[in-house]
Amino acid sequence: MAALRFSASDPQKASAKSTQCAILPVGSSLRLDDAGRALAKDSAGVLSAALKGGEFKGQVGETLLLHSPGAAQRILLIGVGDTKPTRGDYLKISRSLARALLASKAKDAQMHLGALKVGSSDWEWLCQRLATDLVYHAYRYALTLSKPKPAPTLNRFVLLSGDTALLRRARSALNRGGQAGGGINLARELANLPANYCTPEHLAKEARKLARGNDKASCKILNEKAMAELGMHSLLSVTAGTATPAKLIVLEYKGGKRGAAPHVLVGKGITFDSGGISLKPGAKMDEMKFDMGGAASVLGTMQAVMEMALPINVVAIIAAAENMPSGTATKPGDVITSMAGITIEVLNTDAEGRLVLCDALTYAERFKPASVVDIATLTGACVVALGSHASGLYANDDKLAEQLLDAGTTSHDRAWRMPLWDEYQRQLDSNFADMGNIGGPGGGSVTAACFLSRFATKYNWAHLDIAGSAWDSAPKGATGRPVGLLTQYLCDRASTD
Ligand code: BES
Ligand code: MN
Ligand code: ZN
Repeated sequence: MAALRFSASDPQKASAKSTQCAILPVGSSLRLDDAGRALAKDSAGVLSAALKGGEFKGQVGETLLLHSPGAAQRILLIGVGDTKPTRGDYLKISRSLARALLASKAKDAQMHLGALKVGSSDWEWLCQRLATDLVYHAYRYALTLSKPKPAPTLNRFVLLSGDTALLRRARSALNRGGQAGGGINLARELANLPANYCTPEHLAKEARKLARGNDKASCKILNEKAMAELGMHSLLSVTAGTATPAKLIVLEYKGGKRGAAPHVLVGKGITFDSGGISLKPGAKMDEMKFDMGGAASVLGTMQAVMEMALPINVVAIIAAAENMPSGTATKPGDVITSMAGITIEVLNTDAEGRLVLCDALTYAERFKPASVVDIATLTGACVVALGSHASGLYANDDKLAEQLLDAGTTSHDRAWRMPLWDEYQRQLDSNFADMGNIGGPGGGSVTAACFLSRFATKYNWAHLDIAGSAWDSAPKGATGRPVGLLTQYLCDRASTD
C-alpha cells in the first residue's frame, strides 16, 4: 500500500472543503452535533434519511457507509454508544472505524476533532490509537503470493479543528500512532515470511537497512567465527545442525545524550525451530517460522523509535539462528560452555531459545545498559498459562516491571507479571553441568525465565515470553506484538526519565 499520511487542519481551509469520505461519530440518541448538521445539509437529505431508516442505531463500534451527492462523497457513520465511552469502547470504535474506512474505496478521509470528545484526557490517546489501527488494518501479506489481495486505497487521513494548539497536539499523536503502526507491520511482515526467505542473513539485511536510513544509527553483524572468539558456544550449539549460518545482529540508535546509558532490547531470532534432535511433532510445525517473533518485534520497535526520533539511546541485539537436526547437531546430554562461563547440559535441544538468548544477554553487559528487555517466543507453557491475550512478564526489578506493565496497558498490548522466585531455580540443577537447559514438567515458562535470569545479573532486566501473543493460528498470521508495548515503553522513557 502507498504510505498512509496523517494530518490535522483547519476546516475553513479550501483543501478541507471536500473529501471522499467524511467520518461522523453518532451516539445512540442519533442526535447530530454542529459538524453533523452541516454534513446533513451537504448530503441533501441522504444522511437524515439514513438515520430515520433505522438500520443504524449508534451502538459502540457500529458503522454505516453512505454515498452522498455533496462535497463529501461518502459519509461513514460510526456508533459511539449512549454514555461516556470507556477505553474499551474507544478500542472497539477505533478498530471498526479503521476496518470500515479501509474497506471503502475512499482515497482520503476527514473527521472533526470535536467528535473525539476533546477535553477528555483520552483524546490524544485516541488519535494515536486510530492512526495505529488504520495502519495496522491496511497491512496485506503479499511477498510470496502470485495474486495478492489488493491494498486499500486510503492514503490520507485528516483531523479537522479550528484550534491551532489542538491541531499541533493532534498531528503529533497521529504521527506517533502511524509510526507505531508501521513498526508493528514491519514485525508482522518479517514474522510472516517463510523460513526459506527469512533467514538470519535476511534479518541482518533488514537491520542494516534500518541503520542506513538514519544517521544516528549503526549496525554491526557478528558471524559465527566472531561469536566463537567471544565464547558464545551456547548460541553456537543451536546452529550446529544447520547449513544456514547464524548471525548476532547489533543495531545501535543514538538519539539521546552522548554517553547516556542505553535501553537494550534483545530478540530471540530462531528463524525456524524444528526442535533439533529433540524433534518436534509434525502438526503445526510450520508455525515455528514465527519463532523469530521476538527479533521481528525488536526491529519493528527500532524502526518506530527512529522514525519518532526519540531522544534516547537504544541498542537492539538479535540472536538469529536456525534450529535443525543433522549429523552435526547438538545431542541431548551434550554439555556446552556459555560466554558467561556457565556450563549447560543440553537435556532437550528444543529448549534452544534460552541457549541463544543467554549469550546475547552476556553480550549486552558491554553497553552498561539502563535496562535490558528480552523478547522471545520462549515456551509452549506460557501459552498454556496465559493464552494469547497477555505476554508473560518476568523482571529482576519492580520499577522496570511496572513501566512495562503500564506501557502494555496504554498500548493495549498487555503483559502479566509472573514469579521468578528462588524456589524455582532448583529445577534447573544438573549432575553434569552448572545447570540443565530444562526445568522439568511444572512451571515451564517460569523455569525458562529462571534460566535467563542467571545471565542477567549485572543490570535491570525483564523478559517477555510472547509465545502466545506473537501470532494467531486461525487465521494464521503474525500479530506484531509486543511492538506496541515496547514502543510505548520507550516513548515513556524519552518523556519522563
Ligand atoms: N519456540 C518454542 C516455544 C513455542 C512452542 C512457542 C509452541 C509457541 C508455541 C521453544 O523453543 C520450545 O520449543 N520450547 C519448549 C521447551 C521445552 C523443551 C522445555 C516447549 O515449550 O515445549
Ligand atoms: Mn524449541
Ligand atoms: Zn523456539
